[in-house]
Amino acid sequence: ARTVDRGADGVVTVGGMSVVRLAEEFGTPAYVLDESDFRARARAWRTAFGAGADVFYAGKAFLSRAVVRWLDEEGLNLDVCSGGELATALSAGMAPERIAFHGNNKSVQELERAVRAGVGRIVLDSFQEIVRVAHIARELGTRQRVQIRITVGVEAHTHEFIATAHEDQKFGIPLAGGQAAEAVRRALQLDGLELIGIHSHIGSQIFDMSGFEVAAHRVVGLLKDIRDEHGVELPEIDLGGGLGIAYTSDDDPREPHEIAKALTEIVTRECEAASLRVPRISVEPGRAIVGPTAFTLYEVGTVKPLDGLRTYVSVDGGMSDNIRTALYDAEYSVALVSRASDAEPMLARVVGKHCESGDIVVKDAFLPADLAPGDLIAVPATGAYCRSMASNYNHVLRPPVVAVRDGEARAIVRRETEEDLLRLDVG
Ligand code: LLP
Repeated sequence: ARTVDRGADGVVTVGGMSVVRLAEEFGTPAYVLDESDFRARARAWRTAFGAGADVFYAGKAFLSRAVVRWLDEEGLNLDVCSGGELATALSAGMAPERIAFHGNNKSVQELERAVRAGVGRIVLDSFQEIVRVAHIARELGTRQRVQIRITVGVEAHTHEFIATAHEDQKFGIPLAGGQAAEAVRRALQLDGLELIGIHSHIGSQIFDMSGFEVAAHRVVGLLKDIRDEHGVELPEIDLGGGLGIAYTSDDDPREPHEIAKALTEIVTRECEAASLRVPRISVEPGRAIVGPTAFTLYEVGTVKPLDGLRTYVSVDGGMSDNIRTALYDAEYSVALVSRASDAEPMLARVVGKHCESGDIVVKDAFLPADLAPGDLIAVPATGAYCRSMASNYNHVLRPPVVAVRDGEARAIVRRETEEDLLRLDVG
């Protein structure tokens, strides 16, 4: 589905648009998002899970009204985790019953708004929230569909998972010590709530399915305990998001159909073993849908060789448009995209324009030794958690998100202006 190509002149095109033209029209830095690729990935998840399951795109990865409309058209649901994300979804016309609301400390106002709007599910994250939502729903004369988020004691990252004490974090209600069972007991007693299922999210950038296997086993174990204690079989389970993408060539992500098959098999097997009706499964991929669909286009400003070390290549953005390198030591690749070069590769570090030495975009990269100011370079796989975590550090203006499709480009989020920045300044 990817529509990235390099012409004979070395100029990269995406969705039929050359990066040189994109830079002229929209300026740099810019996130360039391939709309066809986004839609194809969304559709692949939808198709892989089929009619018997639900795919909730995790809006925290990147959300805008255009994205909400694409999801709507491709038949996906939406996971939001703040009032702001909820407002974006509703203002773009997403049907409230297709929205799931997450978060470990949703405010009373946010919860009221969600219940009033009629969101399809609120994922309860604490004992206080169980009571809070039940109260709000009763006051509003309704019953709110809810799931309870539990922590199964598995934390998965990349190629490994650790099944130890990872209840030691802020999300969810621990399965350990009977706390999750107690939460279920309380939720079932409150008439403002309709408990529809159990939720588990085990981590991010995961390639290995074994963490999901352990999580599914434990979630199904809880469903069985609920059946035995209360005589109810909860109809749904949500296994969260976290599926990994390729940031560099070392990463080997699984395809949606493989993931769907693996998760469905695990849940079915575990349920059959416990003689439970197989619940409806839902998942919440964010990164796996939007991550690979965008790259950040930068213009090179200065090139500074440090003898015997490396060459520092400064671009016109940095940690304000991609905090992931500084925050997580994330790895990215980079390429010259505005021309061909047969110069030798040089060891480079791509850095931003911020007043901070940790302002690194790509830590170790090889770029052609003739790289010069004015060249355009692109950092792939920046569709997830880059624009959504962008900041105004140093009063830098946040870049636009430009969607390209079939030879046309339009900003779906425009570039910030100094006026935008000053609008918040009082006095
Ligand atoms: N569902 C829940 C309940 C989550 O907490 C998350 C992510 C997702 C779904 C989506 O996960 P994904 O499929 O996108 O991995 N800022 C970090 C990632 C934080 C993820 C937080 N929760 C980063 O840049 O890697």
